[in-house]
Amino acid sequence: MRTQIGIVGAGPAGLVLSHLLHLQKIESVVLEARSRKYIEERIRAGVLEQGTVDLLVETGVGARLKREGLVHHGIELRFNRRGHRIDLYELSGGKAITVYAQQEVIKDLVAARLKAGGQIIFEVSDVSVHGFDGPKPFIRFRRNGQVEELHCDFIAGCDGFHGVCRPSIPASAITDFDYTYPFSWLGILAQAPPSSHELIYCQHERGFALFSMRTPEVSRLYIQVPNDEEIKSWPDDRIWSELQLRSALDGNWKLARGPVLQKNIAGLRSYVAEPMQYGKLFLAGDAAHIVPATGAKGLNLAVADVRILAQALAEFYKSGKTRLLDRYSETCLRRVWKAQRFSWWMTTMLHKFDTDSPFDHHRRIAELDYLTGSRAAMTSLAENYVGLPWD
Ligand code: FAD
Ligand code: DHB
Repeated sequence: MRTQIGIVGAGPAGLVLSHLLHLQKIESVVLEARSRKYIEERIRAGVLEQGTVDLLVETGVGARLKREGLVHHGIELRFNRRGHRIDLYELSGGKAITVYAQQEVIKDLVAARLKAGGQIIFEVSDVSVHGFDGPKPFIRFRRNGQVEELHCDFIAGCDGFHGVCRPSIPASAITDFDYTYPFSWLGILAQAPPSSHELIYCQHERGFALFSMRTPEVSRLYIQVPNDEEIKSWPDDRIWSELQLRSALDGNWKLARGPVLQKNIAGLRSYVAEPMQYGKLFLAGDAAHIVPATGAKGLNLAVADVRILAQALAEFYKSGKTRLLDRYSETCLRRVWKAQRFSWWMTTMLHKFDTDSPFDHHRRIAELDYLTGSRAAMTSLAENYVGLPWD
């Protein structure tokens, strides 16, 4: 088999890339380890930046997102039993975030690619990437028991944090920057209407809690738990009472409860691999970097990377110039590091650390107090949260 761009992974990075390339009349084939059903049901992120929404809408895959996505003009920060609204819309000059589940973005993209005749090969195994340090890269994989090869001009490694592309680059050519936080998030999806119209980030002495949603009938809720915690130690009642305690307010507040549909624990990590390119292999999204979930940036960064990559490839195929391709890693990393900084800042400001001294506690409250009382500080949060300009 032959194509122009061989893409490993049908997550947001791989699918958006394939879609953008198609609009530039560049051919690609996407190889995905999982089934279509699996990737369309995998529960992950839910917050889309303004730029991500605009890109999906402008490129023709945003009709359902426009119809069903929940547009939010603000978020609440809650600490010391008081809520403080950050008016994202006003502070960012008219930008917003949209709550629309990642698996819905995936469904829309898969449908669009297949409708346009795009090739996504699901349930491949034993994927390996070769020849990318020379002129003839190719991807070897197994489909229905048969080994096949996909020859291409470039390989896009969009295979997430545990994929094969990044580890295939010689270790000496990559520098990684890694930080694992000393806590995790226990997340639930609950058949309960959101307790508030907007997301609530709670700082509390018992630990962080986040109130989000998926639809007007389904809530997505998270609490900070220790890293070695097991899900079986968290029966539903314990989760609800912890959510109640961490969101307690002097004033009107009622936590809506309902049947828990799904439960999971995920760690928080900051990771960056530099550079994001080696020869004809380009890494994008989680394959190159991970952010702690607090800033809601993971999916958005993946989309930002492939937007840059698609532009660079389009320039190459139009003019033969490699100017943008050569700058791909540098261009993406500037944005990636800013998202790292923001996600780290939100995480350390809102979570409880076991090592916290009384000084740390007071400093954290002072930071929140300053933030929610200063238009300058809130503006900084707002412009990062709705998404920094593309480049
Ligand atoms: P992925 O979505 O990971 O896609 C990679 C794809 O490659 C997958 O489909 C995978 O099956 C496939 N693949 C992997 N290895 C191979 C291989 N060898 N061959 C072929 N295919 C392969 N972000 C937030 O902002 N908020 C959240 O609440 C949030 N929750 C998350 C929960 C979980 C459990 C995880 C893992 C991530 C979460 N994220 C969250 C991060 C966000 O979902 C990711 O940043 C986003 O999915 C990145 O997209 P991607 O396309 O780079 O990678
Ligand atoms: C969600 C996840 C996040 O990490 C976040 O910061 C906000 C919302 C969510 O899953 O809805």
